Amino acid sequence: MRGSESISSFDHERSRFEQDVLRGLATWPRSLPCKYFYDERGSRLFDRITTLAEYYPTRAETSLLQEHAREIATRLGRAVDLVELGSGSSAKTRILLDALIAPARYVPIDISAKYLAESARRLSASYPSLRVEPRVADYARPMTPFAMPRVATRRAVFFPGSSIGNFEPDEAIVFLDRARQIAGRGGVVIVGVDLPKDAAVIEAAYDDAQGVTAAFNRNLLVRINRELDGDFDVDAFAHRAPWDAARRRVEMQLVSTRAQSVRVAGRRFAFAEDEVIVTEHCYKHGIEDFRAMARAAGLGAGPVWTDSEVRVSLHWLDA
Ligand code: AVJ
Repeated sequence: MRGSESISSFDHERSRFEQDVLRGLATWPRSLPCKYFYDERGSRLFDRITTLAEYYPTRAETSLLQEHAREIATRLGRAVDLVELGSGSSAKTRILLDALIAPARYVPIDISAKYLAESARRLSASYPSLRVEPRVADYARPMTPFAMPRVATRRAVFFPGSSIGNFEPDEAIVFLDRARQIAGRGGVVIVGVDLPKDAAVIEAAYDDAQGVTAAFNRNLLVRINRELDGDFDVDAFAHRAPWDAARRRVEMQLVSTRAQSVRVAGRRFAFAEDEVIVTEHCYKHGIEDFRAMARAAGLGAGPVWTDSEVRVSLHWLDA
């Protein structure tokens, strides 16, 4: 019985992926949801992206956190219940954990089960007295509520890394409203937001010289080939990442380098030369624009921190 349960949940995941991919390839412009980047290899490639010279967001946010962790920890107070959405390797959280005063619990939430388990294990080894309770979930979807540990005084929902930029602006407000509900009365939502800046700086961050971002983008096709019986010629799709100044977003694309036909899960899709699959939108929000979005979600816009070069921001939002 237990075996068949886990098989059916696996099939459920697969069919959601299949539905999302088939739907995305049938719309125009063609698109694929960016959350599917993060299979195990994708999670590792993303970690490599965060170490690239061109990819400023991680370094900027890390130095911002290092500079302000004590102030944030003091504001949070003792025995906080820390929930992180899209925790990945939890590298930035360590900076916060090092500063927090006797945190009650840390709940890392991530879509990649295997990667989450490994990160949580490493974190527990570094913080033996910390209660770590990982949860596998897609943070973009509604979540079942979870109880506060007995000792906790307030809950902080931490969402660093500018992943909020993946939402369309109206969806970002819906998401912030949900984060507010998770934080609960008296709680706080702390969000990292990349700022609009020079096009060349942004475009280099999303199209690095070593081609790691290109490999990350193409890995989505590798995953489709493996999990959905696809036959994408991965090398016949070029990586592009143009900055759209009017919409203040980077668009990650895979561009068909020739006319070709691709089979996925038993269906055929014809691609013209130069036809685009959009794989991700990364919006950049100015400080006042983002505060207005937070207020629209019922959050109280508190202090905002930036790194010394004003590349990224960190918003304190009262639930
Ligand atoms: C994980 C969404 C924050 O938008 O910078 C990095 C993902 N895509 N390079 C970002 C990403 C291409 C990243 N986020």
